[in-house]
Amino acid sequence: MKRIGEKDEEGFLLKEGLFRKNSKENGQYHSNWLSMIYPRLFLARNLLRDDGVIFVSIDDNEVHNLRMVMNEIFGEENFLANIVWERAYSPVNLKKHFSENHDFIICYSKSFDNALCNGLKRTDEANARYDNPDNDLRGDWKSSDLSVGPVVKEKVYTITLPSGRTVVPPKGRCWVLTKERFDEFVNDNRIWFGNDGNNVPSVKRFLTEVKESVTPMTIWKYSEVSHSQEAMQSLKRIFDNEAYFDYPKPVDLIKRCVELYSSTGDIILDFFAGSGTAAQAVLELNKEDDGNRKFILVQLPEKTSEDSEAYKAGYITIADICKERIRRVIKNLESETKNAQIEIGKDTEKKLDLGFKVFKLKNSNFKLWRGDDISNGEVLEEQLDVFHDPVKTGADDENIVYELILKMGLDLNVKIESCFIDTDESKKKKKGELSSEKYKFFRVDDGKLLYLHTQKGKIGNLMNQILKKKKT
Ligand SMILES: C[S@@+](CC[C@H](N)C(=O)[O-])C[C@H]1O[C@@H](n2cnc3c(N)ncnc32)[C@H](O)[C@@H]1O
Repeated sequence: MKRIGEKDEEGFLLKEGLFRKNSKENGQYHSNWLSMIYPRLFLARNLLRDDGVIFVSIDDNEVHNLRMVMNEIFGEENFLANIVWERAYSPVNLKKHFSENHDFIICYSKSFDNALCNGLKRTDEANARYDNPDNDLRGDWKSSDLSVGPVVKEKVYTITLPSGRTVVPPKGRCWVLTKERFDEFVNDNRIWFGNDGNNVPSVKRFLTEVKESVTPMTIWKYSEVSHSQEAMQSLKRIFDNEAYFDYPKPVDLIKRCVELYSSTGDIILDFFAGSGTAAQAVLELNKEDDGNRKFILVQLPEKTSEDSEAYKAGYITIADICKERIRRVIKNLESETKNAQIEIGKDTEKKLDLGFKVFKLKNSNFKLWRGDDISNGEVLEEQLDVFHDPVKTGADDENIVYELILKMGLDLNVKIESCFIDTDESKKKKKGELSSEKYKFFRVDDGKLLYLHTQKGKIGNLMNQILKKKKT
């Protein structure tokens, strides 16, 4: 981005570059947005597991375009829902026409058949809709409509109620059960004709037989998942009542998305991290259900505005706010767990997997072989000389280790040990050397990768010692 003039010398985004605020007046408003979102969604699909799903929160400006891009990238057949999130609870009376109080959350799967919805936990409110007016031994039940549309001919028949009155399905509908099945249900006391035996029949659905979970509907009310203002307030509470970020999402909203389609060990990726709501949602959910979901947040090096409270408080980039939020959330979770343990008198500490690492995308730590410029033997010799040490001057060892981990395709969370080795002891004795030089080396993933950076000539000898040490 620096090369194409999108970043300054320090690596921060330039406001006048491609990432400037997309303005409706510039004539390429939708085109700019589409160019930005397309490659990101394309990559997101590639990163998804076969049973993975994606939720994209969007307002009215681009929702129509988003549906089309998603259809193209994910396939229309993988569309799951266009959720309406009630994000505000009162109208903005200054608005000329409508005061929008909802956003959309578009949800697609990578594969409709492979995605598995966990459903929502049954609430006490939902359970309270069940009762037992006829003291059925099978417990509480709720009646459900016996009629359904459209008409299936075999399921249209006359029912004689216990009161003697006869009923047929309403116009354009039929019964849900065939006559034979209906009779079986009656014999099993699964049909409800009302207290006086004169009601249109309904089917008894027993609480003990319904799914543990509830299938989610597509309107998410703020009473269930919170609204924008509450999200803002709760973020302020984390930051000693300071408002450092505009329009964060409510933690409960993101929790619901995560809860619906993930289970322990899954990875949640948010590539528009902002203030880091997704991280908080994952950490809290893990605590609630003993899960071990992991999060990856991606944030462009976007600066906070210089006159903002965030900037004045030292949060120079959005990522700085995000990192500090995660630290504070972790601290709160740790102290909550501790307090809960004290309360219940448990002394064994429950192990929550809290913690995170931060990586910045940078140029390689290794020199680039420039084969194109080699016009003669002399230049080749020079180039080879430069490559006696392929590491760029001033490169940090830890950064190099992580670059090698990525290059080897290892997990960024593998065990990394930093160890020391003395210069060859035997040689020292022979030559009578007194000083023992210590060399730091890194042992990654129990020895899958050993990294030692030192002057030419010494490396082979030291590596031999490290390897010998490993064998013993
Ligand atoms: C509205 S915020 C997301 C808020 C987040 N869900 C939260 O609760 O804090 C959108 C984020 O997307 C990032 N963003 C904006 N334009 C972007 C772009 N073109 N590419 C990548 N990220 C972008 C911004 O830096 C911002 O952090």
